[in-house]
Amino acid sequence: MNETFDLVVSGGEVMTPAGRRRADVAITDGRIAAIGDVPSTAAGASLDARGLMVLPGIVDTQVHFREPGHEEKEDLAHGSRSAVAGGVVAVFEMPNTNPPTTTPAALEDKLERARGMWCDHAFFAGASDDNHDELAELELHPGCCGVKIFMGSSTGSLLVADDEALASVLRSGRRRVAIHAEDEFRLAERRHLAVEEGHPRAHPVWRDVETALRATRRIVTLARDAARPIHVLHVTTAEEIAFLGSAKDIATVELLPQHLTLAAPECYERLGGFAQVNPPIRDSRHRDALWRGIDQGIVDVMGSDHAPHTAEEKKRPYPETPGGMPGVETMLPILLNHVAEGRLTLERLVDLLCYGPQRLYNIRGKGRISVGYDGDLTLVDLKETRTISHAQQHAKCGWTAYEGMTVTGWPRATVIRGHVAMRDGEISDTPTGKPVRFWDT
Ligand code: DOR
Repeated sequence: MNETFDLVVSGGEVMTPAGRRRADVAITDGRIAAIGDVPSTAAGASLDARGLMVLPGIVDTQVHFREPGHEEKEDLAHGSRSAVAGGVVAVFEMPNTNPPTTTPAALEDKLERARGMWCDHAFFAGASDDNHDELAELELHPGCCGVKIFMGSSTGSLLVADDEALASVLRSGRRRVAIHAEDEFRLAERRHLAVEEGHPRAHPVWRDVETALRATRRIVTLARDAARPIHVLHVTTAEEIAFLGSAKDIATVELLPQHLTLAAPECYERLGGFAQVNPPIRDSRHRDALWRGIDQGIVDVMGSDHAPHTAEEKKRPYPETPGGMPGVETMLPILLNHVAEGRLTLERLVDLLCYGPQRLYNIRGKGRISVGYDGDLTLVDLKETRTISHAQQHAKCGWTAYEGMTVTGWPRATVIRGHVAMRDGEISDTPTGKPVRFWDT
């Protein structure tokens, strides 16, 4: 072989579509050029992966980076540095910013700001009550990953609550629509329960199982009527997992690490408002059912739902506290720890964080270690034991719900299109993120 490659990641155990194998991965012009034995003389630059697992670059399909409008909580620079520190090569960012991403101008503004991001990125278009007709065009804008609907109020003003409006949104466009499934009408009826208790332990009481299940059932019916594929985000209940197992004709499923790791009531007693997310963390009956959903193949992807708020906001009296926690940097360590503890295989982790995102969103050239794909790799040490701390975090809010948790398994390098964006915790000097490309746009 006389060829010279830009970068060779050498000597690692590589997770290829055919399974694990000892191999070098060579990258040229940002794309994977060879997998196999590559002589060291053929390497322009090299990255020693001996003793490490080489995974396809992790794609986090649900983050809130708050820019524009709430840069006191997070911004695209901090959020994307946090991503690459956590082994994430690309993020899909949510539209509940201020202004929300509901128009071509707002989407273009985000793409312009995103030139300062450390990881690759795409942005969701938000469905609102006055943009149904524009969504079909908006979702095809380069750099857009699709449409997001909030069926129940969460952070920000985006909301499409009733069936008629939802059906109209689903009729506009063709790509898979991402859904926050909580029933707005039931949320409004029950909010007094949160106020009366005045403590976040009431969060899963207010936003109860029926609130989530009712919305999920409604949107599946509407999606079938419209023949429009949907993706139900952050599923939290045993009842929805059972139901969604019978809806694979139209709906895909996302889970979050926090719902698989923490449980009520303990998390609320220990973390107070810092454990408050929408939909809520519930008791261990639900957590066990979510793990069964992974085991049974009902779950398609995992995302972090990185949703930072300031520590001051999280310390307010409940329910004035906003829902959401950071997570883009801790998603992989937390899931690797589940691998170390035998709850998850590394193959399924790659399916949920790489193959799943590629398949659901029709991503071009990412999520897989194959020749011709982007040179995206996440290198992890499966044996490294670390304790998660607030101080480690690169997110602007500077806190994590996992402070003090000791985990086994840690990201050691993040390679994005052949560029080493993170190595042993050191983040590269310059942002080199680019928009993710899709087959549909
Ligand atoms: O906990 C959440 N936080 N859930 C959401 O749906 C929104 C998010 C946020 O933006 O804060």
